[in-house]
Amino acid sequence: MISNTTKEQILDSARIEEVVGDFVVLRKRGANLLGLCPFHNERTPSFTVSPAKGFFKCFGCGKAGDSATFVMEHEHLTFPEALRWLATKYNITIEEEAPSAEQAEQDSLRENLFTVTGFAQDFFEDALWNSDEGRSVGLSYFRERGFSDQTIRKFKLGYAFEKWDALTAAASERGFQPELLEKTGLTIAQENRRYDRFRARVVFPIHNLTGRPVGFGARILKSDPKSPKYLNSPETEIYFKSKNLYGIAHAKKAIIALDACYLVEGYTDVVSLHQAGVENVVASSGTALTVEQIRLIGRYTRNITVLYDGDPAGIKASLRGIDLILEEGMNVRVVLFPDGDDPDSFSKRVDQVELKRFLDAEAVDFISFKTRLLLGDAAGDPIKRAALIRDIVSTIAKVPDAITRASYIRHTAVLMEMAENVLLGELNKLLRSKATSRPTDPGAVPGPSQDGVESGGPEDPGAEEQTVDEFDAITQEEEIIRILLLYADHEIMVPDAETDRTDGPQVRIRDFIVSELRFDDIRFMNPVYAGILAEFAALSDNALGYDQQRFLQVLDPEIRQTAISLMTPTHQLADWSRHKIDVKTEEQQLHKAVIDPVAYIKKKQIIRIKANKFLELKTLSEAGISSDHLLEELRELNNLQMYYNRLTNTVIQK
Ligand code: GTP
Ligand code: MN
Repeated sequence: MISNTTKEQILDSARIEEVVGDFVVLRKRGANLLGLCPFHNERTPSFTVSPAKGFFKCFGCGKAGDSATFVMEHEHLTFPEALRWLATKYNITIEEEAPSAEQAEQDSLRENLFTVTGFAQDFFEDALWNSDEGRSVGLSYFRERGFSDQTIRKFKLGYAFEKWDALTAAASERGFQPELLEKTGLTIAQENRRYDRFRARVVFPIHNLTGRPVGFGARILKSDPKSPKYLNSPETEIYFKSKNLYGIAHAKKAIIALDACYLVEGYTDVVSLHQAGVENVVASSGTALTVEQIRLIGRYTRNITVLYDGDPAGIKASLRGIDLILEEGMNVRVVLFPDGDDPDSFSKRVDQVELKRFLDAEAVDFISFKTRLLLGDAAGDPIKRAALIRDIVSTIAKVPDAITRASYIRHTAVLMEMAENVLLGELNKLLRSKATSRPTDPGAVPGPSQDGVESGGPEDPGAEEQTVDEFDAITQEEEIIRILLLYADHEIMVPDAETDRTDGPQVRIRDFIVSELRFDDIRFMNPVYAGILAEFAALSDNALGYDQQRFLQVLDPEIRQTAISLMTPTHQLADWSRHKIDVKTEEQQLHKAVIDPVAYIKKKQIIRIKANKFLELKTLSEAGISSDHLLEELRELNNLQMYYNRLTNTVIQK
């Protein structure tokens, strides 16, 4: 048990920015440091570290504490375990006090599992270098594969003897409990026999983020159809497969320095690339790539390049990976190796310069990757071509950021030689169905609602933010102008979110739109659309009638051009014909067609205002000034936002 003196010494030595800095990229922000929160998924940093106060706080998820709390939370450790972790980091010798019987019993299981796994790592490594069997079978295998001694040592590669229970016996001799060995997965107990899981294999230790061994991958030496090529440790209380990446501890520094990460499939790919001087590389070994693994990379960089085999399995895996990475809002590129090569074999065939040149030159964005992959069979076949386009657009729809989506659409349009409008129409259709299928997404980015404003419940504004963000404002502006041009004098029922009556008072569409936007002082971002809107406002102000032909005549030639193209059926077709809904039907759905874009633009505005108020609130509360009026305003804005939500959800289609 750690003595009180040691405990104080540890807590005094630990510097929060250094402890957190081991896991999070921190940037200076005034007296504090700022980074991406490791406890929840976020794209804009709200995780703050105060060196002066010695604590961290995340304004996104609310987690806060000192160095010890951080290590406990982050590494899933108990308090004493966290103290030991910090003691190692700061080279503090722990003064032990004799534990009481009770405390001895509570001795952490996890710490013991780490100890046993560490013992096994040493045992395998020792066997590789210092036993005849290990040297002649294991070491010669690694050398034959071109691994240098330095590389083998760096990754602490090892060898598992052929004997049934070499490790189990050695561990028992050392006094490790049999149950503990079973819990690490190193020993398998069957009836009354205990034997080693890994036998006659070379061993790759798997380390966690802090470099402690948590499990192993073990490769067979001669191919044997009855036995799997790789055997892996099972999931244990210290080895979480879906959250672990092979090589992350070795790659962390290089990933941060280069602001990029290569993702490969296998242990040998990681090891060989390191040897070839490419150190920012990790593998999802043993499991299919998971969201947690991507988020783990996301703490260090937003840029991932997937390096997979060019065989069908590798291609399939990379396609799945692409969508997952994009969904996390990260940038993804792909390098396909020539069929039959993987990063390991390729890096052995070429020199370092050529390898780096290849990785740079062959990395393509996912659109080019998919296009190249599928265009082969799609050439000259319009149906396959259409399927390819839909496939690409559905991947683009996974990108959370509207501006990034827009630039991908532009890129696809150029590559596929087609009109951007058509692609945008397809994209919006997908986004719309996505938005309505999960109106309150519990996994959405948490809103800034922790600072005193009530949140939670199905109408948590945090959840809405993402929904609203799915529509980029310009598209909504375009939609409003299109409706105005085509249906300015049509009438719709005055919208009312509180009742679902169908026989309310009527209002002319152009009057409704002009007055709604003016009421909230909403100005269009796109200057062309703003110009057209101003002309409609002038009509209303001067009580003039709307005549399509005459209206077009008063517009500037360039603006007129846009107006005409918005009014032509092809444009409507982009949006409607693929639903097999003709223009008449759009007219019947006018009510919704008018309300939706107006409501979305208003919600966007509300969210902008809210964000500013939150900033103000934060500044005030940091300065210790009470800000009840701001809280009140925020509550009202929330209500307003919910009102518009209800409006778009309840409007009946007539
Ligand atoms: P080498 O054949 O040694 O070059 O390995 P590799 O890394 O190139 O293997 P491969 O491309 O066949 O597989 C990639 C990764 O998938 C490996 O590193 C393992 O993590 C995993 N893997 C491959 N074969 C098996 C297997 O039989 N069982 C399990 N559980 N995983 C495997
Ligand atoms: Mn290989």
